Amino acid sequence: MTADLFDSIAERPAQEAIADGAVILRGFAHAVGSELIPALREIVAQAPFRRMFTPGGYQMSVAMTNCGPVGWVTDRSGYRYDGIDPESGKPWPAMPPSFLRLAREAAAEGGFDDFAPDACLVNRYEPGTKLSLHQDRDETDFAAPIVSVSLGLPAIFLFGGPKRSDKPARHRLTHGDVVVWGGPSRLFFHGVAPLADGEHAVLGRQRINLTFRKAR
Ligand code: SIN
Ligand code: FE2
Repeated sequence: MTADLFDSIAERPAQEAIADGAVILRGFAHAVGSELIPALREIVAQAPFRRMFTPGGYQMSVAMTNCGPVGWVTDRSGYRYDGIDPESGKPWPAMPPSFLRLAREAAAEGGFDDFAPDACLVNRYEPGTKLSLHQDRDETDFAAPIVSVSLGLPAIFLFGGPKRSDKPARHRLTHGDVVVWGGPSRLFFHGVAPLADGEHAVLGRQRINLTFRKAR
């Protein structure tokens, strides 16, 4: 963890613009990292990770859960936001104050004031898993940005353009990096390349991503 932090300070600028309206905030979550992990463990105890099915019937390799008023779910009937965890029949765990604060501060740093996310999707990537190029467009209001927090093993984040065929740039994201995109790039295609194997000092053999969105 210390090595990652040192990396981000010594070799990379703290803010990298990757498109119009899109920025990587290197190490932005380090300040609150120690609060995030225990809160994450509590969420997962209440709403365990599960591998959902796409409307086309494929099981996703990335395991997911949610916290906040609504959670993103996919099954044979489609993609949607739902206030109830279909596995438990209960509301999703509440969004911890430390999550909300981080999301709001990162959004503001990225140029989007007053971000009020009502959904936090938690993705778990194990070595070899990936997320295909997609747009985040199940939300009702595209004025709000997306805030994406990387924890654990490093990943290659693919960030393309408005068309699926736009060749994505590859950005390496490490523990504590936060990506914010909105405005002109709110609907840009993005994804995650197959995760390389490794062992992270805090989270072990996995990468966790928190995606904050204003869904409703
Ligand atoms: C997502 O697009 O939902 C997640 C992106 C990431 O894991 O970095
Ligand atoms: Fe996404």
